[in-house]
Amino acid sequence: MVDHNPQNRLVVDQEQEPAQEAHSDSPTGQGSATISADTPEAATQTPEQASEFGGGTYFASTPIYYVNAVPHIGHAYTTILVDFVTRFHRLKGDDTFFLTGTDEHGEKVQQAAEANGKSPQEYVDEVSGKFQATWDRLGIRYDDFIRTTEPRHQKVVQDVLQKVYDAGDIVYGEYSGLYCVKCERYYTDKELVDGKCPQHEIEPEFRTEANYFFRMEKYRTWLKDLLHEQPDFIRPERYRNEVLGMLREPVGDLSISRPRSRVPWGIPLPWDEDHVTYVWFDALVNYYSALVSRGTVERYWPHVEHFVAKDILKPHGLFWPTMLKAAGIPLYQHLNVHGYWLIDDRKMSKSIGNVVRPLDLQKKYGNDAFRYFLIRDMTFGLDSNFSELALAERVNADLANDLGNLLNRTLGMLGRYRGGVVPEAGAYEPEDADLRETFLALPKRLVALVDNLQYDRAVDSVMEAVRKANKYIADTKPWELARSEADAERLDTVLNTLVEALRAASILLDPVMPTKMHELRKQLGIRNVPFDLSAAAEWGLVPAGTQTAPGEPLFPRIDLEELQREIAGPEDEAPAPLTHKAEITIDDFAKTELRVVTVEKAEQHPNADKLLVLTVRMGPETRTVVSGIKAHYEPEQLVGKKLVLVTNLKPVKLRGIESQGMILAAEDEQGQLSLVTLEKDLDDGSEVR
Ligand code: MSP
Repeated sequence: MVDHNPQNRLVVDQEQEPAQEAHSDSPTGQGSATISADTPEAATQTPEQASEFGGGTYFASTPIYYVNAVPHIGHAYTTILVDFVTRFHRLKGDDTFFLTGTDEHGEKVQQAAEANGKSPQEYVDEVSGKFQATWDRLGIRYDDFIRTTEPRHQKVVQDVLQKVYDAGDIVYGEYSGLYCVKCERYYTDKELVDGKCPQHEIEPEFRTEANYFFRMEKYRTWLKDLLHEQPDFIRPERYRNEVLGMLREPVGDLSISRPRSRVPWGIPLPWDEDHVTYVWFDALVNYYSALVSRGTVERYWPHVEHFVAKDILKPHGLFWPTMLKAAGIPLYQHLNVHGYWLIDDRKMSKSIGNVVRPLDLQKKYGNDAFRYFLIRDMTFGLDSNFSELALAERVNADLANDLGNLLNRTLGMLGRYRGGVVPEAGAYEPEDADLRETFLALPKRLVALVDNLQYDRAVDSVMEAVRKANKYIADTKPWELARSEADAERLDTVLNTLVEALRAASILLDPVMPTKMHELRKQLGIRNVPFDLSAAAEWGLVPAGTQTAPGEPLFPRIDLEELQREIAGPEDEAPAPLTHKAEITIDDFAKTELRVVTVEKAEQHPNADKLLVLTVRMGPETRTVVSGIKAHYEPEQLVGKKLVLVTNLKPVKLRGIESQGMILAAEDEQGQLSLVTLEKDLDDGSEVR
């Protein structure tokens, strides 16, 4: 789909599908990525383009996710965000590398494997596979997926540990403290909220262990100074301030080992096999070990940008830079910390039952709409509320309305007035030039916004231009121009300008919606046209005579009312009216004798699966009652229960056993059954009126 034209530019060839799922698995990161924009050769720029955009190097990472749960939209967000940012850098022409993976050691994983009746290895293979499959389904184009159980990683962890140990920064000692197993770390009293872990809202365990300690405290002042010298080392600023806050008081030394006898599932310390590496020390090294194993440390390490959410600020903002310093490895460029997706203002959690699965949304709305919403609706650094309705509203307003309409109207007018062929532009009027300048200014603006982590604004600035293009149609009124031959050239210019605007928008929005933007270019008939960020800063690249190929609407409108009904669920539908029996008098009712009974015996009817035979006591009398409640109650549940019996019903034989009355029970619409019992313990035989 992307190829070189003679000027050594990336060009779009619309005959092929976008290769979104391609992951490069060659050790150099250049091998199998099929979109040639991934490869450094393909990304080669002409000298003047290189000076404008690109020519840099960009390495971005997501956290490596724990394998004790399957992916939810929180994990999907960081991964989609890094996919978006790295696609943007590729478009810009940077030598780009995208790393993600899974964190597979530690107590939590060990416990999860046990709970699932699996060996740790079996279990981590399975869950890591689910992460990879989810990312594939979401069209994530990572370059490497690292697993901490891989030998290539373990070796580097041991090398780094040995280096720090040899330098005298790892010492043996005893430690007591409050430990959250879910976070896999100790908490200070101050960090706890009402005595509980703020992340998991569980009480931590008190633990004393003989461990190895990394002398983190030694690096406290150094890190504090660094955060002053490089104020954007951790960004946005609120998170830098949070880390500075941590550094105001002693941070202590970090326990970096666990006794192997208790936690066998980990990487042994190279100098003491009785201990395994603390999972955070192991996990953080992934960012580096992936490059070591691929032989690309020099190429990418100096450019690393970490993306994490605020939950893991401390390990990334405090443990990791001090570890790197102690190991003599250069520091990362930036730690980029985003907020949390909340569901109805609450944290997502299994116990609340509000976990949102990315694949459910993907299935319903498609990858691109879902990606667009996540990137457009979160201001980086702040929490954001997720709701399906907000997603649908966003899709309708921005994608179906603004962008979808612009394409449909343009294609429609080209079809009606120019036989579906892109005409040559004539002389530009100020309104054409104004729209052109708006689009031409965008690539530079986007580079600045993306560098500044303002992804929502980056996307919206393209949409603003799209809205302006819609207004341009309203202002230039092509349908009026079409009425007179004298305006033919003017109409050509307007239509051509719209095609160029759409082409530019499709490049700029490609990192956020790669599949739909590919489809958009296909409908415009764009082939063999340069496709990179520089091409979005040029005008007039679609050759006159290009045959358009209108297709299905890119973003079908979502029926919000139907969605609201679906979200509200059946409870909110008006209940069906009740049907009543013919009225009776109190005398009629008085004919029925109801009494309290105690169940003495209950057994299966010998000839009928669905019936139980109850022996009930009613004061001095006992009765045999055959009841059709087998599907709802086991016989042993009934013995001793006080129920209500209709005692003066004419006895009937049910499958050979005479039933001397009927037990009262209530049944709801769903067929659930509940026996009528007493709210106080009255004597059996008491009359019910
Ligand atoms: N294994 C560690 C990370 C080790 S990195 C060296 C870990 N894993 S995790 O599975 O718990 O993933 C945490 C990350 O998932 C967050 O930092 C964030 O990237 C993402 N998110 C989890 N829940 C999230 C939200 N509700 N909202 C946004 N992102 C969230 O911690």
